[in-house]
Amino acid sequence: MSIARIGDIGAALFGVGTKTGIAEGLGVLALAADAATGRPQGAGLTAAVVAAEFSRRLGDEVATQKDAYHIALVRFIGCTVTGHETGMMGVGDDQGFAVATMLGDWADREDLKLHLDRFVALEAPEEERHAAFDGICDMLPTAAPDFTAAHCKQSYLLAKRLPISQAVLESVPYYYGRWDGKVLPYGGESLPYLQRLHRITEMAELVRRLENATRAKEVIAAKLGREVDPNLGEKFLEHADDIFKVASRSPEFENFIAAEPGERTLLTPKCRVTLAEIAADVTDNKALCFFSHSRRVAALSARAGQNAKMSKGDIENLRLSALVHDLGKCAINNRIWYKETDLEGSERLEMERHAFQTQFYLSHGNPFSQWVKVAASVQERADGSGYHRGIPLTDLAANILAVANEYDELTHGMPNRAPISATEAAAKLNAAGREKRFLSSAVSAVLQAAGHMVSESLGSIPFGLTRREAQVLSRLAKSETTAEIAEALGISPKTADHHIQNIYNKTNIRARPALALFALEHGIVMD
Ligand SMILES: [Fe+2]
Repeated sequence: MSIARIGDIGAALFGVGTKTGIAEGLGVLALAADAATGRPQGAGLTAAVVAAEFSRRLGDEVATQKDAYHIALVRFIGCTVTGHETGMMGVGDDQGFAVATMLGDWADREDLKLHLDRFVALEAPEEERHAAFDGICDMLPTAAPDFTAAHCKQSYLLAKRLPISQAVLESVPYYYGRWDGKVLPYGGESLPYLQRLHRITEMAELVRRLENATRAKEVIAAKLGREVDPNLGEKFLEHADDIFKVASRSPEFENFIAAEPGERTLLTPKCRVTLAEIAADVTDNKALCFFSHSRRVAALSARAGQNAKMSKGDIENLRLSALVHDLGKCAINNRIWYKETDLEGSERLEMERHAFQTQFYLSHGNPFSQWVKVAASVQERADGSGYHRGIPLTDLAANILAVANEYDELTHGMPNRAPISATEAAAKLNAAGREKRFLSSAVSAVLQAAGHMVSESLGSIPFGLTRREAQVLSRLAKSETTAEIAEALGISPKTADHHIQNIYNKTNIRARPALALFALEHGIVMD
């Protein structure tokens, strides 16, 4: 075979040039979602391969096989929306909680507790862990409808921005449904076919990745007629060995791309932007302290790019790089992000790993590769004192993103660091420019842009909310109390409460994850 022919095949398979498929973008997000949910790296990719292969062996039409492949990918993109709550319940360990509740049977207290004990907060004191597990087991059966609805709605809201079939979108809200109808108010044949298929393949593949194929088959056999459709489950078990063989081919990401059934769904430029926005939202939902951070940094960076007289194309690439710059944060446990005192030794190293993880995720396939260099350099400094590579940052766009990120972090704070005023942040950044840690031109461009940020971020606001109510809403979505909101906005607690009651009445929403979703869906990103 000629080299040119091999190149053509490579282009067809891996989307070189304009032939990039949407699966590549979803695959990158799936890698981040694996980490955010405590699953083995690549488990989301192979779950899609298993779902598509099982669908093919069932004799489904190609369109259904493609839907099976897609549901395995989009089902996880809402997984971070309850990261705050799951961390709180799981002794701070959002990742362990996610994987334990994926595997444990919610209708069987002993089984659920067994899985919590196996995965959640392994380093925490035993007494604290078991008290937390009892609390989870007490709470989960009654809280499950609201809890799962938040995940599913988030996945639905994010997925509906993409060219995903209606059958997939309609299956997402039922994802957690059980065949026996326990725990959630639906079950049996009323569950969409795709949901029933995927519930089996995802569980089987997760157990195979954590343990082995034999154990995966045992788990599915034990769940027949309970959590999973017994007829489909039996058929899966007939073909499981051959299906697993297809999923275990390497290299993993390339095997995943090649396994997309039928014609590849190509990635349009608009879709690519949507995927970057989804990456930002997935990241910013993981912890309350991240809320809207990526969106704000992207807006500030783009305005700074204009001030620095960058070209339109370069500004858009900078904005998109900023949207995805923190995707690697999904890999780091909320026990680190929520720590209220300074990080020590290995904790700091673990935190700093997020910059490498961003580079790792974005380097897969083509959708995000154009933004890797700038996005993954956000913690580097012009004098080489940053991380994760410790290289001198000379590029203007990369410096602008790094400054915009620092400005946002300083003015919004973290659990272990109180926010400082915009004036104090500007003084710090100007000093960093003088000390050559950032290009001074980047500092000037960002600070100039920051001065106009608040007025420009107030666009049209839905549901008849006033601008003040939108500001209050964005703080409610971060779980701030009435007193905290009043203090931050310089109003009395009584006035703050008045705004809150108006928000409840106008949106008909009262729970924090649902308010966060509402803010996300309607683009309410306030300073
Ligand atoms: Fe950031």
